Amino acid sequence: MDGIRIRGGKPLSGRVRISGSKNAALPILCATLLSEGESLLRNVPDLRDIGTTGQLLATMGCIVDCAPPVVRVTARHVTPEAPYDLVKQMRASVLVLGPLVARFGKAKVSLPGGCQIGSRPVDQHLKGLEALGATIRTDHGYVLAEAPRLRGAEIVFDMPTVTGTENLMMAAALAKGRTTLVNSAREPEVIELARVLNKMGAKVQGAGTSVIEIEGQDELAPFDHAIIPDRIEAGTYLVAAAAAGGDVLVENVPVEDLEALISKMRGAGVILEPDGQGVRVVRTKPLRSVDVTTSPHPGFPTDMQAQFMVLMCLAEGTSRISETVFENRFMHVPELNRMGADIEVQGHTAFVRHAKRLDGTEVMATDLRASASLVIAGLVAEGETLVRRVYHLDRGYERMEAKLGALGADVARVQHVEG
Ligand code: EPZ
Repeated sequence: MDGIRIRGGKPLSGRVRISGSKNAALPILCATLLSEGESLLRNVPDLRDIGTTGQLLATMGCIVDCAPPVVRVTARHVTPEAPYDLVKQMRASVLVLGPLVARFGKAKVSLPGGCQIGSRPVDQHLKGLEALGATIRTDHGYVLAEAPRLRGAEIVFDMPTVTGTENLMMAAALAKGRTTLVNSAREPEVIELARVLNKMGAKVQGAGTSVIEIEGQDELAPFDHAIIPDRIEAGTYLVAAAAAGGDVLVENVPVEDLEALISKMRGAGVILEPDGQGVRVVRTKPLRSVDVTTSPHPGFPTDMQAQFMVLMCLAEGTSRISETVFENRFMHVPELNRMGADIEVQGHTAFVRHAKRLDGTEVMATDLRASASLVIAGLVAEGETLVRRVYHLDRGYERMEAKLGALGADVARVQHVEG
């Protein structure tokens, strides 16, 4: 397995461009199943999860030309089955369930199972499909769903779920009649999916609010769409530049989707100036600790919690970081403490005290965003850091070592690192 080796202690300077959004591209790739024509996606990031989704669509019989930043998908002759060996690689594969049932009247999709950050149930997805008239049963780890024709209904989510909202928006787009989704997720990626569904001829209103109305159609047309920038990749580079210190222009940043993060970074003493389509990050003074609680959008993103924690390791004082979205998203803490951080976890809150310095060492990535936090810690640490299992990073960050290298970081990918 590959690793990333970082020699830290260097401030960053220069400019970095943000790629297309992974968490927007994944549901939109699944939306191609709703139409029989050839759909075209542009500004698609070159990531493992994109390749996995292309492989899943091809396994089902779609014609897929996956050449990021352009991906073409034709879903004409489709076998509505998603096998375990692909679904286990990427939980977001569950997003094929809604489109398959809506278009083909049945689906057999492996249950995604949990992952490092939590049990990740899909009960809300299944309850919603049942409300639309699907018969759902589980058998040997697979979800079997059937419905001659889905019918519009009112669905109230027990909690805002991003892929739950996306799955049911797609299913409702081909249902007969009107569907109302209540307590929906408000993430920008939900809004982007609604834009695509409306391009396909669906009638989706209210995306971005907690109540979404969908007027189902008998059929939908293919689409041509350029994906929005990745707000979490953008946030990761803003935090990396602030942690390492220096003066960096992060280009193509969806500032309006990062208000909670930017507000907390400014509270910590980081200078963030809008500059055209980008943000200039300057950090030359000591950082102040600020408290953070993650919550569904527009709150502080759980996907930025691990990265922000590294910044708080460097800040004067103690920062309290509470993770309210997932039950086990502090796995980066023991690895950061091995680098000299001073973090104590009590339940869902991490108390992050000022660390005089971080020392480079060998660390192990456990999930996508924890990997990013370990790389950021390596940029700051004295000496050399080796981040193992960097395949986690490749799932969500396009050419991270090249982008950081262009900012002056001493970063390299190393092959065949055991463990
Ligand atoms: C999406 O995951 C993102 N993935 C995650 O990003 C992100 O962390 C998460 O939303 C929260 O923002 C994609 O968009 C592909 P949820 P998702 O359903 O949809 C509970 C990354 O790093 N829940 O919004 O799976 C769930 O356990 C990834 O790019 C149920 O109980 O998250 C969690 O506590 C990691 N039952 C909460 O809701 C359900 O049926 C929010 O989860 C569904 C969710």
